[in-house]
Amino acid sequence: MSETVYPVPAQWRDSAVISADAYETMYARSKNDPHAFWLEQAQRLDWIKTPTQTDNSSFHKADFAINWFEDGVLNVAANCLDRHLDTRGDQPAILWAGDDPSEQRTITYRELHAEVCKFANVLKDQGVRKGDRVTIYMPMIPEAAMALLACARIGAIHSVVFGGFSPEALAGRLTDCDSSIVITADEGLRGGKAVPLKANVDAALALSHSVTRVIVVQRTGNNVPMTAGRDFWYHALAAQASTDCPAEPMNAEDPLFILYTSGSTGKPKGVLHTSGGYLLWASMTHAYVFDHKPGDVYWCTADVGWVTGHSYVVYGPLANGATSVMFEGVPNYPDHSRFWQVVDQFKVTTFYTAPTAIRALMREGEAWVDRCDLSSLRLLGSVGEPINPEAWEWYNRVVGKGQCPIVDTWWQTETGGHLISPLPGATALKPGSATKPLFGVFPEILDNDGRVLSGAAEGILAIAKSWPGQMRTVWGDHERFFQTYFASYPGKYFTGDGARRDADDYYWITGRVDDVINVSGHRMGTAEVESALVAHETVAEAAVVGMPHDIKGQGIYAYVTLNANEVPSEALRKALIQWVRHEIGPIATPDVIHFAPGLPKTRSGKIMRRILRKIAEGEIHSLGDTSTLADPSVVEALVRDRVLQP
Ligand code: PRX
Repeated sequence: MSETVYPVPAQWRDSAVISADAYETMYARSKNDPHAFWLEQAQRLDWIKTPTQTDNSSFHKADFAINWFEDGVLNVAANCLDRHLDTRGDQPAILWAGDDPSEQRTITYRELHAEVCKFANVLKDQGVRKGDRVTIYMPMIPEAAMALLACARIGAIHSVVFGGFSPEALAGRLTDCDSSIVITADEGLRGGKAVPLKANVDAALALSHSVTRVIVVQRTGNNVPMTAGRDFWYHALAAQASTDCPAEPMNAEDPLFILYTSGSTGKPKGVLHTSGGYLLWASMTHAYVFDHKPGDVYWCTADVGWVTGHSYVVYGPLANGATSVMFEGVPNYPDHSRFWQVVDQFKVTTFYTAPTAIRALMREGEAWVDRCDLSSLRLLGSVGEPINPEAWEWYNRVVGKGQCPIVDTWWQTETGGHLISPLPGATALKPGSATKPLFGVFPEILDNDGRVLSGAAEGILAIAKSWPGQMRTVWGDHERFFQTYFASYPGKYFTGDGARRDADDYYWITGRVDDVINVSGHRMGTAEVESALVAHETVAEAAVVGMPHDIKGQGIYAYVTLNANEVPSEALRKALIQWVRHEIGPIATPDVIHFAPGLPKTRSGKIMRRILRKIAEGEIHSLGDTSTLADPSVVEALVRDRVLQP
């Protein structure tokens, strides 16, 4: 890993929202006087009742609880909209760039406020009440943001399901949170292709029976089947809806949303975030990490179906009164300069994307970047996976012209927002390092036995104390929440990531230490792909591991043992790949199907994944001890038939 250090540029030292001195002072205060620090930070929100309490959390089994600002009352949507109307009602809140470059929309804060109120009234008319779950399965159009905010306005809990997930995956999520309503669109548009969202909802509703209402936003206008009495066009309902909708007063600890994410075992978990702490965290980190200033045009390329879209397309920027760019398309359509055209066109100042996109665009060459005017950019960000120093250097040199700091933000769906990240005016950068913890974040590096390592060290990354944006529970399974995150290392939040801390106290995330893989910045549980594979009629057993992939970071390597009467073939390989796409969605497409007559198992029948990982990584000379295997010859066959990265 590179150890080049990029000092804070002189112009940033003097003008940034947080300077180096301020970082040190504020970090110390967040540690030594947290109550006062958080009461002060709470002032960045508008409260209906200002909290007098701050942290009331314990990670220990006996009194396990996570609570912040418990006596505070607020409304998240009012914080994102109403409070800006006097000062910036006519400022764009959302600048929308369509998949087709000729399509764009500008929505001011005043317009967004009116649209959200209308949407909220539509939901109320459909019987949605405080605490009800509303599933949102939408393309990246402004109505998606409006739907989120409409739920927040009336206190309904939204559960956004990424539009790339299959009907099966959608059905599982609908059932898990017992959602009675789905908001979708006729179709989505990505890279010039239509995504059959409404048809997928129809297929999902054949599998899941909680839903009684489907609200359909018109996006492409193509014909889609509508079930009378169940499906309604949004524009028809909205035509009669008022633009006046009072914001529901919510306790700080009332739920705001559920977002499903993959874990190392079982089905995806419904991560629950609440209102006060989450919004405070999204707003504070957006302001400090992106050095948000009036006049900025801020663009986070994430889809609203992921936590990055929740915290850094919608809630963080809108809470701060920012202008947030929302992008429907993909980086390489109509051509490889699309990102840079959008930057040029909207004069984007702050650009936040994933390393996988940077690597893919880097491969296409600099000319695609150079044909656009990127002089508006002042800050770049990276999220979702470790950024390799080559991609970092390219991002810095070709996109940032050596003038824009890069904030490499480490966080998770569970954390609500950034936990470890540079602050551009305070932190010297090291390519590949997420650098330092933010205020109130106390990371620890543990050895396998849970001992806290001091100084320069490498091990498991844990967080010692709660922070306001932390998830509060797994929907419907509080015990699973405790077991997953707090049981392995008592008294600490276990992140699932490994990390190294260097002699300057900089953190370097080394990747997941559990059975989660990170494909193009998207989290995928190997167990989910395995259960999709074994659900196929030809498959007896499957084991899935990550493999290095030049663009995606990690690819999906699947070892498959067929039933005794089945014969491996190219056709079957393709059929299995299709099957997984159908069961989960295109993001779970296996890169490799390795037909394996047998899998390495211990004598007690446990699959030795360590060996499978090494083979997939091509590290066949460091397989370690195989003597405990029931049948060591299995490994030789696997090594012989190893499939190289396609
Ligand atoms: O492994 C870490 C990786 O992504 C995981 C979280 O994924 P998810 O919940 O989908 O959230 C993605 C958006 C934050 C982490 O456990 N990860 C995320 N950001 C980084 C990262 N790994 C290294 N560096 C990062 N900046």
